[in-house]
Amino acid sequence: MDVGKKLTLFHNQKKSFLQKNNMQKIGYYRKSGELFLQNLSLKKLVDHYGTPTFVYDSNLIKNSFYMLKKIMDPLNGKIHFAVKSNDNLGVIKYINSLGAGADVVSIGELKRCLKVSVKPKDIIFSGVGKQKDEIEFAINKNIKQLNAESIEELKDIIEISKNIKKTVNVALRVNLDINAKTHKKISTGDENSKFGIIYNDIVNAYKLINEASFIKPYGLAIHVGSQLFDYDVFFQTFSKIKNLALELRNLGYEVNHLDLGGGFGVDYTMKNLLNYKSLSKALNEVFKNKEFQLSVEPGRSLIAESGILLTKVIRTKSTNYKNFLIVDAAMNNLIRPTLYNATHSIQPLKIKSDRSSKKYDVVGPICETGDFLGIDFNLQETKKNEVLAIMTCGAYGSVMRSNYNSRPSAAEVFIFNNKEILLRKRENIDELLNLDIIPNF
Ligand code: LLP
Repeated sequence: MDVGKKLTLFHNQKKSFLQKNNMQKIGYYRKSGELFLQNLSLKKLVDHYGTPTFVYDSNLIKNSFYMLKKIMDPLNGKIHFAVKSNDNLGVIKYINSLGAGADVVSIGELKRCLKVSVKPKDIIFSGVGKQKDEIEFAINKNIKQLNAESIEELKDIIEISKNIKKTVNVALRVNLDINAKTHKKISTGDENSKFGIIYNDIVNAYKLINEASFIKPYGLAIHVGSQLFDYDVFFQTFSKIKNLALELRNLGYEVNHLDLGGGFGVDYTMKNLLNYKSLSKALNEVFKNKEFQLSVEPGRSLIAESGILLTKVIRTKSTNYKNFLIVDAAMNNLIRPTLYNATHSIQPLKIKSDRSSKKYDVVGPICETGDFLGIDFNLQETKKNEVLAIMTCGAYGSVMRSNYNSRPSAAEVFIFNNKEILLRKRENIDELLNLDIIPNF
C-alpha cells in the first residue's frame, strides 16, 4: 500500500480515547498531501527549526496514557513512566502532569524527575548496577521504592540505609526464567540475562529484607522484556509473580506491591493500532481479586507513537543495486534500525501526486554501512532537499543519541494545544569541542 495512504488510514481508524471523549483530533494527518500535526504544518516546523528534528504530539501521549489508565485504575494499578525511553525534561513533566509516576534507572534519571517536580513518592528506582551514591541519594530523597536486583545489591542497600538511619521500601526484582519472545537484545526475563534475582534465591532475599532494621519489605518486581505483544507471555509472567508473592505471604512475609514492569509493544510499521488487549486480558485474569497493589513501567507504549524524526535529503545516488537517499539524520540520532534491525515507517513530508514510486535505502552520512534508517522502502520519487518523516520515534530515539562522527544531536519540539514548544536545542559543534581538554604537548 502507498505509504501516504497508509498514514491516513492509520489515523482514520484510530478510535482513540480522546476522540471517544470528544476531545481534540489526534495524530499525524495530511492536508493537501502535506503532513500536519494538531493545527500545525510540519513544513513550517522544518522551516523554523531545520533538520534533523524530533517532533512529539502531546495528544498521542495523552491518548496512550489514558488507554492504559483505564485498564489499571480498576485493578489498583499505578503507571510509572519508564524515563529511559525518553528523558527529555519537558516530556517527563508532561507525562507526570497526566498523573504518571516515574521509573528510573540512574541517579541522572532520578535528578531529571526531581528537577521537574515529580514527587519522590511516585518514583521507582530499578537497575542492575546501582552504585552506593545512587542508592544513598535515592534513600535520602524518600522515593517510593528501590528494586533490588541481586543479593549483593540488597546487602549494600541494607548497609547504606543502616548507616544513614533512613528507612526505604525495597522490592525484589525477580528473574523467573521467562522467555519474552522478543528481540534478543531487549529480552530480560530469562536466566541468560543479567536482570533480577533467581527463584531459588528469593526466599533467602526476602528473609534478609524482613530482618533488616531500616528496610520496609515492599513486594516484588519483574520486567521480562520490551516490545511484547503475546498474551501467553503476559499471562505467564503475571501468574508466576503472583504465585511467588502468595508463597512468600504463606511464609508470613508482607508482600503488598507487585511491579509488573513495562515492555508493552507498539507496531513500528503502523499497520496496527496501539492496543493493550492482550495485556488487559492477562491482567484482569490474574489480578481480578485485587490482592495486590500493582504498578507498571511503560516507556515505549506511552511515547513511541507520538514522536517523529524530520530529516532532509542531502543527496540522492544510485548504484546498479540500490537507490540511496542520503539524509541529514543518522544512526547517532536514531540507532534503532542499526542496533535492532528495527523498521520504522518512513513518509514524505509532502505527497506529490505526479511522482512515481521507487525503492530506496534511506541512509545517514556516517561512515559505516550500518548507518541506515530504512532499507528497501517504497517511497515516492524523492529529490535533494526534500524532507522525510521517520515515524514512531518518540521512544528510544533522541535519548539514545551519540556524537559519533562529531555530529551534534537533533532538536526536539513538542506540540501542545496547537502550539510548538522547543524542548531541546540542537547541539552546536563548538559546544561539543569545548568538552575536550587540549593537552599541553
Ligand atoms: N522497566 C524496566 C525495568 C525496563 O528495563 C524497561 C526497558 C522498561 C520498564 C520499559 O520498557 P518499554 O515499555 O519501554 O518497552 N532501546 C530498546 C529498548 C530497551 C528497553 C530497556 N528496558 C529499543 O529501542 O527497543
